Amino acid sequence: MENVALENRVFYPPADIAESANAKADIYEWAKKDRLGFWDAHAKELVTWFKPYEKVLDDSNAPFFKWFVNGKLNVSYNCVDRHAKSHRRNKAAILYESEIGKKVVLTYGMLYREVNKFANALAGLGVKKGDRVALYMPMIPEATIAMLACTRIGAPHSLVFGGFSPEALRDRINDCQAKVLITADGNFRRGTPFPLKQNADKAMEDTPTIEKCVVVKNAENEVNMKEGRDVWYHDLMAAAGSYCEPEVMDSEDMLFILYTSGTTGKPKGVVHTTGGYLVQTQATLKYVFDIKEDDVYWCTADIGWITGHSYVVYAPLALGTTTFMYDGTIDYPDKDRMWDMAERYGVTKFYTAPTAIRTFMKWGTEYPKKHDLSAIKILGSVGEPINPEAWMWYYENIGGGKAPIMDTWWQTETGAFMVTPLPGVTPLKPGTATNPFPGIEVDVVDENKNPADVGYLVVKSPWPSMLRTIYGDPDRYVDQYWKRFGDMYFAGDGARRDEMGYIWVTGRVDDVLNVSGHRLGTAEVESALVECEEVAEAAVVGKKHEVKGESVCCFVILKDGFEGSPELIDKLKKHVAVKIGPIARPDDVIFTGSLPKTRSGKIMRRLLRDIAEGRAIGDVTTLADPGAMQEIAAKYAGKED
Ligand code: WT7
Repeated sequence: MENVALENRVFYPPADIAESANAKADIYEWAKKDRLGFWDAHAKELVTWFKPYEKVLDDSNAPFFKWFVNGKLNVSYNCVDRHAKSHRRNKAAILYESEIGKKVVLTYGMLYREVNKFANALAGLGVKKGDRVALYMPMIPEATIAMLACTRIGAPHSLVFGGFSPEALRDRINDCQAKVLITADGNFRRGTPFPLKQNADKAMEDTPTIEKCVVVKNAENEVNMKEGRDVWYHDLMAAAGSYCEPEVMDSEDMLFILYTSGTTGKPKGVVHTTGGYLVQTQATLKYVFDIKEDDVYWCTADIGWITGHSYVVYAPLALGTTTFMYDGTIDYPDKDRMWDMAERYGVTKFYTAPTAIRTFMKWGTEYPKKHDLSAIKILGSVGEPINPEAWMWYYENIGGGKAPIMDTWWQTETGAFMVTPLPGVTPLKPGTATNPFPGIEVDVVDENKNPADVGYLVVKSPWPSMLRTIYGDPDRYVDQYWKRFGDMYFAGDGARRDEMGYIWVTGRVDDVLNVSGHRLGTAEVESALVECEEVAEAAVVGKKHEVKGESVCCFVILKDGFEGSPELIDKLKKHVAVKIGPIARPDDVIFTGSLPKTRSGKIMRRLLRDIAEGRAIGDVTTLADPGAMQEIAAKYAGKED
């Protein structure tokens, strides 16, 4: 054992999980023999339809696919009504704890009532089927209620992560022309209230489509309520009727828009629809986290990201699970906060990101050791490749050496898990997401679309929870995902296959960074930098970081008459953080006289990455001005880290 490299060690499914697992090995054969039949069966089993669909898949207008054609349903009905009317009426739907220790339990019966009331409140503000509603909220139960209320009346929501800046919020509201914004007076971060509403106010200075702003009182912050525009959530709820008929939605009606970074400066509004999304999110959660009636399931993702949408809100609630939500920092009041809550709530399934695992690892084993984590049966990881050391640490110290780790590869665009082990079936190796989920056809191919050991990750056929388009920009949808490999969806990731056929995702091959599991376009950061009067040109690359995975590293050419200084470095870092949000704050700013470019003018980021990470400079023969590299390298060597 000792001499086997970590990533070559194999961990077999524990006997107890294998025996009682929702998914047994034969599920792969079933899906392979009859892919559409497999999805058809799950659509029938997992979704309550108002009217059955006529066809599983319509691929006549590729890549604009339709799933469960002409089926009628409502997502909030599937997430609350059907449980509130069953034996689950008094089962906890949401367990919530705030950083300062406020606790809320909402049973399915209670959640049903809240969702209905808020749906009526939104309708009362003039929100109709098809109208977009923006949400800028902390991880509070009201956020879930608001999402479900939107789906109840057929109004697509667009969540903007609470850590994003006012400008980022403004741009996202304007892109989808939202009519209403839902926010909160604030939330606590390390004991200090965060001014969410102030940020929202700044954004709303320039959002002509916003008619009303609903504010949840959460942090007792002083806030400005603009007459005629701003209304308190609790006032609306006090006046709202307790039943709202769910809107009958088509399978292909828009469920939500979620913005994500791409290779240009403008974020893409990824559009998800109703039927297919509800089928695949449920099927994947049910099998991968082996959801059982008595689970306490905790996904630590913020609802502002796709993981929060699919696996904090929609899939767990649709399956009638108890989902735990925490709003706060992971080390407040101390570094055992997460394990303290996992113990107190008896968490059985725990899903988090490698960046968090590496942070816990740095803090040491004493923190998880203080708590009884023996209820944990299955662990999950998402957001970036998990390094084998972090995998082992997680496995031993959080899972007690008995909980299999589900390394799930997927994206905002895929909506649900695509490559993932199954806990009762798949032998695990630290660092690989292993196999495509049943009914999903993923491959690693070379430039010519031929299967390869090392190459690009593609999806070879449509899947139910796939994005349908980019909001307002169908051409960008086609260009971005369906051009490079023709009829195969290109994910933007590189990958390799090992001798067991397992897929190892190696990271983005496009100009997208992954900072702490969050996507950031190099172009977004660059356009923020060139807004500064001192900056003539900027090139941004990701630099390996032991906790964040990648950090933002900027190479900056100043305009004539300006000089680099520590003050200017600070100013530029701050500008990016204010412009995009704190997650985009650069770790390094390096001033240079020129940038390495190909003869066609494309910045050679690979070379900049070599320099940023202190590697020897690679092949520079395609450079327009090979001397430029030496200069940059010298500058970097002299820089204090
Ligand atoms: C990108 C998608 C899906 C929710 C979180 C991020 C990377 C995600 C893994 C994994 C290796 C992963 C990819 C992907 N990624 N999960 N298990 N192993 N890489 O969603 O912001 O849409 O980012 O995250 O690079 O393309 P996202």
